[in-house]
Formats: sequence, C-alpha cells, structure tokens
Amino acid sequence: MTFIIVVGTRPETIKMAPIIRELERQNIPFTFIHTGQHYDYNMSLQFIKELKLPKPDRSFKLINSRPASQIGEMMTKLDRTLDLQKTGLLLIQGDTNTMLATALTGIKLCLKIGHVEAGLRSYDWRMPEEHNRRMVDHVSDLLFAPTKIAKQNLLKENVYGEIFITGNSVIDSVIDHLPIAEKQSEIMESIRFKKYLLATLHRAENVDDPKTLKEVISAFLDSPIPIVFPIHPRTINKLRELEMLDKIKNSKNIQVTPALGYFDFLVLMKNCQFILTDSGGIQEEATAPNIRKPVLVLRLTTERPEAISAGFARIVGVKKNSILEALMEYLDETPTLPSFSPFGDGKTSENILNAIKPFAGL
Ligand code: UD1
Repeated sequence: MTFIIVVGTRPETIKMAPIIRELERQNIPFTFIHTGQHYDYNMSLQFIKELKLPKPDRSFKLINSRPASQIGEMMTKLDRTLDLQKTGLLLIQGDTNTMLATALTGIKLCLKIGHVEAGLRSYDWRMPEEHNRRMVDHVSDLLFAPTKIAKQNLLKENVYGEIFITGNSVIDSVIDHLPIAEKQSEIMESIRFKKYLLATLHRAENVDDPKTLKEVISAFLDSPIPIVFPIHPRTINKLRELEMLDKIKNSKNIQVTPALGYFDFLVLMKNCQFILTDSGGIQEEATAPNIRKPVLVLRLTTERPEAISAGFARIVGVKKNSILEALMEYLDETPTLPSFSPFGDGKTSENILNAIKPFAGL
C-alpha cells in the first residue's frame, strides 16, 4: 500500500514533518504532495526548506481563491494525480480546505484515509475549520485523535473508522525543532523590546469581520506592554482594506513582522512573556515542555479544551476591554503552568506509524 502525504498550508507542513521523518527513519516509501493552498514563499516553501523535508513529488499552482472553487480546483488536480495510485493510504492533517479536498477526492478514488488530529470540535459553526473537521472525520478509515476528549467526540458522533489516541505531532515538532531554532534563528536581534507579548491573528471569523478586527487591534495598540505581531497575509489584506495597517506599523507599542519562518516563531514564543492568539496550533505549541507559555485565546470557543483545563490557555473573547483586563491580570500574576503537555510527550509520530503499519500490512 502506498502512503501519500498531502499538505497545503503552514500548519500542515509543521505537524506532518515529524511523521515524514518517522517514515524516512523506518525506510517506508511515500509520495509527498503540496496543493498550493498557501502560495507565498513565507507561508509554504519556506517551511519545507527550513524543516529539511523532501521536495514535494507534486505541487499545484491554484488559480481560484474563493474557498469552494479552490476546493474544487484542488480536487480536480488531486484526482488526476492520485488516480495513478490504486491502493494508497492518504495521510492528511488538521482542518484545512486542503485536507477536505484531499479526503473527498480520496473517497471517490476508493483510497484509504488517515486523519491526523481527528476529533477536535469547537462547536462554533462560523468556523470553516469546524465544517472541514466534521466532514473528514466521517470519511476517514483511521482517526488519530490527539487526546481522550477528541476520541470521546468521535465516539459520540459514531464515526465509521478506527480511532487511536496518539497525542499531537505538534509536540514532536516543537521538541525536535526548538534546539535547532535557538542555534540558527537571529530574530531576537531585530526585536526592539526586552519584554514583549507575542500576538497572532488570522482566523476568518475574526479578521473578516471589520468590527472584531478593530476591537482586537485597538486592544493591541493600548497594551501596557509591547507586542510583537507577525502578520498573516490574510490579516494584512484586511488591515489594508480598513486603512489600519499604517497605524499599526507606526505604533511604538507594536513591532510588526511579516509571517515568519517556523524557527523564528519558535524562538519568539520561547522568549515572550505570554501569547495572544486565535490560532489553534499555537495553543498546543505553547504547552510543549520546552516552551511552556500562557496563552490568551482571542476567540469565543476553542477546539483545544485540554489547554484550558491544564491551565495553559484562557479564552478572553474578542472585545477590547476583555482582552485588556485579562492581559493586566496576567501581567500582575503570571499563572503557574504544569510541566507536562496535555497533547502528548513527543512520541506521536511513532504512535501513528504503529497504528498504520498493521493496517497497511507492514
Ligand atoms: C488556512 C486554514 C487555517 C489555518 C491557516 C494557517 C482553511 C479553511 N484555513 O487559513 O485553518 O490555521 O491556513 O495559516 O484552510 N493568502 C496569501 N498568501 C498565502 C495564502 C493565503 O496572501 O500564501 C491570503 C489570500 O488572500 C487568501 C487568504 O490569505 O485568500 C486566506 O488564505 P487561506 O489559505 O484560504 O486561509 P488561511 O487564512 O491561511
């Protein structure tokens, strides 16, 4: 059975990297495809190069940018590529449009599907990621749930495939890469502040809503402690449309950077006071034993409740006042964090391969 790994965005590359390496370590051949959903160098190729992953066997240049048309286009291109594989196992990750397009194509070609990071639920129907996860979990043969909660979510929905609790490969990735990042990254030399908060913002339900985007940004502008803010291209576009980009760039309190490479970002996480973010992956990365930072989650819900109950993360919403209140509280007294991550001990890629091998007859 051929293994086919498909990624298309930044987080998929980061979280698939340890699995790709484990396949290489065990001498198991695989095909590697990049859909081109993220097309800027600093959102895609940079990660493949930085993490020293093999060059994708196939990658696409997408013409469409609207989600439904883009998913359709990815499906058409994947259909032509995957049709040559008669007995493959597709390995896909997370909750992106790439993952949905791959799963839908795979099921039509009678390929098997393994979903890494299965069973996460935000119960927030405004999120495209929530639509994607729910659909893909129901067509997957193998579901790699990071935690017991994720497995429970899948059991409640009576999914078709077999469920394994494996941890989340993001922890493997942080454990593997932070030591290299600390040697190689020069990002701290360019940071203007000694003490800073690290912020990111890119979720569609936040940045595509001008009112929400303005609230969050005005909290950043009024923060009592400086903020380092690597900006996702989606957010740059929206801030430019609202004529807010220059204000942020000119603020003494905020240091803006373009979307960063993984190594620079890991080092920024390691050195910050705490993190403000609407990202899912960062809520997990912050719990890695070599990072351990508190996170204020700029959302109304999270599909990572484990980070909350372990004491790493707190949901603060998207209103200026609630963000600033939580921020002041954390500056007065930083919460004590556990020494372990609720997302596993860095052995997820091994656990996933142990589950796959019998299924693939290896
Ligand atoms: C996608 C994922 C999200 C993930 C995020 C990580 C979906 C539904 N969402 O969101 O779960 O957390 O990636 O980054 O798949 N753009 C660029 N350059 C790029 C890519 C995007 O400028 O390389 C701009 C385009 O204007 C595009 C917009 O960003 O229309 C949104 O990009 P898209 O890939 O749809 O979603 P993300 O917001 O990146």
